[in-house]
Amino acid sequence: MSLRDAALFVRERAYAPYSGFKVGAAVKGSDGAVYRGCNVENAAYPEGTCAEAGAIAAMVAAGVTRLAEVYVIADSPRPVPPCGGCRQKIAEFADPGTPVTLATVAGEELVTTVGELLPGAFLSSDME
Ligand code: THU
Repeated sequence: MSLRDAALFVRERAYAPYSGFKVGAAVKGSDGAVYRGCNVENAAYPEGTCAEAGAIAAMVAAGVTRLAEVYVIADSPRPVPPCGGCRQKIAEFADPGTPVTLATVAGEELVTTVGELLPGAFLSSDME
């Protein structure tokens, strides 16, 4: 299954009764496996979590801590831009050159990189 198909599939499982905005994320780990996540909202709004966070949590729970590729999809007018917090979460497990594809359900795709999404990210190396 392609990353796009995996992200489209898991997007249908999003729990987004408050925003109505379903997001799916599929990431390829350094092990070659695909991990999926969807946004999970909450009646206490700030407790909701993004699709990217779910996919990264699934990868880490499987024992993998490096991202090879990221794909995010929503039914948005432009390829869905990850929020600032998700850019930081992605950067933790990726290289600046790691490819990230932002997509719409309608079929538009924007291929970018982790470094373009969050230039100058604060990393563990900054604490050495
Ligand atoms: N959302 C994501 O899951 N990922 C993004 O990159 C952008 C926003 C979710 C959070 C919330 O459940 C809904 O979209 C509206 O903000």
